[in-house]
Amino acid sequence: MVKVLSFARHSKEGKIVWIRQLKDFVGQEVEIRGWLYNKRSKGKIIFLIIRDGSGYVQAVGVKGESPDYVFDLYNKLTLESSIIVRGVVRQDARSPWGYELGLTGLEIIHIADEYPIQKKEHGVDFLMSHRHLWLRSRKQRAIMRVRNEVEKAVVDFFYERGFVRIDTPILTPTAAEGSTTLFSTQYFDLGTAYLAQTGQLYLEAAIFAHGLVYNFGPTFRAEKSKTRRHLTEFWMVEAEEAFYDNDDNIKLQEEFVSYLVQRALERCGEELKVLERDTSKLEKISPPFPRITYDEAIELLQKKGFDTQWGDDFGGDEETAISEEFEKPVFVMDYPKKIKAFYMKEHPERAELVKCADLIAPEGYGEIIGGSQREDDYDKLLARIEEFGLPVEHYQWYLDLRRYGSVPHSGFGLGLERTIAWICGVPHVRETIPFPRMLYRIYP
Ligand code: 4AD
Ligand code: MG
Repeated sequence: MVKVLSFARHSKEGKIVWIRQLKDFVGQEVEIRGWLYNKRSKGKIIFLIIRDGSGYVQAVGVKGESPDYVFDLYNKLTLESSIIVRGVVRQDARSPWGYELGLTGLEIIHIADEYPIQKKEHGVDFLMSHRHLWLRSRKQRAIMRVRNEVEKAVVDFFYERGFVRIDTPILTPTAAEGSTTLFSTQYFDLGTAYLAQTGQLYLEAAIFAHGLVYNFGPTFRAEKSKTRRHLTEFWMVEAEEAFYDNDDNIKLQEEFVSYLVQRALERCGEELKVLERDTSKLEKISPPFPRITYDEAIELLQKKGFDTQWGDDFGGDEETAISEEFEKPVFVMDYPKKIKAFYMKEHPERAELVKCADLIAPEGYGEIIGGSQREDDYDKLLARIEEFGLPVEHYQWYLDLRRYGSVPHSGFGLGLERTIAWICGVPHVRETIPFPRMLYRIYP
């Protein structure tokens, strides 16, 4: 667990605390401000379960002990009403939260209308249309908290290793990951601008200033795919490393992914329990990860009955089939040039391949990292840009990087939502981002 600073604010009536702080106030009267999660009564006793964002707690009112007016207010309370609850903190081994409040006071801030999300099962479409409310639910809260922890771990990992964070632009003049998934917008009198599909090319410029760099931010792909792994707006972490070849790059990736998983295990035990995640599978995630070549992956798929041919790219089903063979994430290395991006470095022994690796998560969560060594030779890179039919004038600055002190270098990009989906064990990436954007959804 992380240590959170513990302090109390004060109202006229006493101490206002967050539920997560209750352990520091046993025996004292405190005030909790939050929302009614549930209520029930039994004879002379009422139970209010309150959530305040930091946790859940039950307040218990007993006729004759708690003031009479709270029993009238109790009857008016609807689920999700906002309330102020006062009570004396006591330790309670039977409570799922460890502590409860002996109710001494109650104030209503707002009586909620009938809440649309009930305990019964709702369809995903209904829940997605009520995402602004669904976020309050226990599982959704748990997922966002894992995301929060993993985001912090991303920054810590790179900071500890001397990487400099470079915030790359979102509005860009060019494509980097293929022209079919670009969102465009008119940019004043300067023509069309595109929402960034990657910050990689800009990170490459920054290694010449800092050596080791990374970025972390929203990324856009006009993906026409309606799968459980695709969003049109997602968060990507990208690293770029001067003087790293593809093997160095891969070692960094397995360390990085293991670090994220171990951090979630260390600090999000409660959340993973709420999500009913089988954590024994995550405990195995440590370096080294298995590595296979693209050629071997094709062989493996054909043996498993796929009619995938050499030269084909892998879809979700192929990735799932590959992942079934391994307990850890697996690197698939050295893909055919023609199915990869223009900037990847040609394989020194087989010109039809590039020096790259995709990292496929276990348990069918798909490709979580795409990475490669970069083409550092000016002439080869120019030829690739032309082969791809890209407008060379837009890439002059990028070609400059191969004119002024070019060095071997590598990098990779990790998809945050796919990584969170895997760690949390939720099948669809739409639950791993607060407000998902997909082919058929931009509301709310
Ligand atoms: O493999 P990709 O396209 O690689 C790049 O963009 C490189 N420029 C990264 C780099 O080398 N700096 O994307 C990287 C990762 C994928 O492995 C996947 O995890 C995630 O980004 N990703 C998506 N996640 C959700 N929805 C989508 N539509 C995604 N597209 C890619
Ligand atoms: Mg990829």
